[in-house]
Amino acid sequence: MGGNLVKTGIKGLDKQLGGGIPEGALVMVTGSPGTGKTILGMEFLYNGATRYDEPGIMVTFEETAEALVEQARQFNWDIVGAQKQKKLVIAALPANKIEKDSIETIVKIIAKNNIKRLVIDSISTLAFNTPTLSDKALSVEDMSVKRFIYSFIYRIRETGVTGLLISQNSNNGNLSVDGVSEFICDGIISLKFQPMGGAYSRSLIIQKMRNAKNDEDLHPVEISNSGVVVHTLG
Ligand SMILES: Nc1ncnc2c1ncn2[C@@H]1O[C@H](COP(=O)(O)OP(=O)(O)OP(=O)(O)O)[C@@H](O)[C@H]1O
Ligand SMILES: [Mg+2]
Repeated sequence: MGGNLVKTGIKGLDKQLGGGIPEGALVMVTGSPGTGKTILGMEFLYNGATRYDEPGIMVTFEETAEALVEQARQFNWDIVGAQKQKKLVIAALPANKIEKDSIETIVKIIAKNNIKRLVIDSISTLAFNTPTLSDKALSVEDMSVKRFIYSFIYRIRETGVTGLLISQNSNNGNLSVDGVSEFICDGIISLKFQPMGGAYSRSLIIQKMRNAKNDEDLHPVEISNSGVVVHTLG
């Protein structure tokens, strides 16, 4: 990791990160369904593509490229334009097609397109579809899942990209379903859905950020018609 900071460009977030995400860091974005993880990931990539001249890749096991483009249209993000300019790659891989060497395909796309930013949506789906797991019908608690996730993240780290690894909250007390990715990641941004009768139902906490002076407060999050906005209380 160098000393450079990668700006997310997401309103209110870089300030809380102490300027941005340390270059080369892999940050887990964790939260329950509907908290805005995918939108936040797409905005990180779209801002990189259009404002910071940093090509990005969205690796999704959950949605089609068309669905992502359609969602982005609501925020007036011209994803297709960014794709045409080779600033944004959407690699949509159905979960049941995940193989041991899927990561090598991703690494090749990263090298070929000079990719600087990456989003994986999601590490949880990856864990649930660990190749040995689906072959042998073992549980997600199995050690082979941890090993698969560990080597997958390790390969991504070797490429030097700055990444957001989206993760669904598990229901067993760990932050992730695999139980290891939260320790491997350099940072954790945690999103919560909790309607409190006020203007905002979502909130964000930067729970961990190695080598950075991040803020540790709870911040209301708004999904506005131009994307994610991180507010400050008080
Ligand atoms: N244009 C919009 N304006 C305001 N809110 C929106 C808009 N589009 C989507 N949302 C809200 O964002 C939510 C979806 O966000 P997103 O898909 O990023 O969630 P997620 O955390 O990725 O969910 P999941 O875990 O199910 O994939 C929707 O449920 C909706 O409440
Ligand atoms: Mg999502």
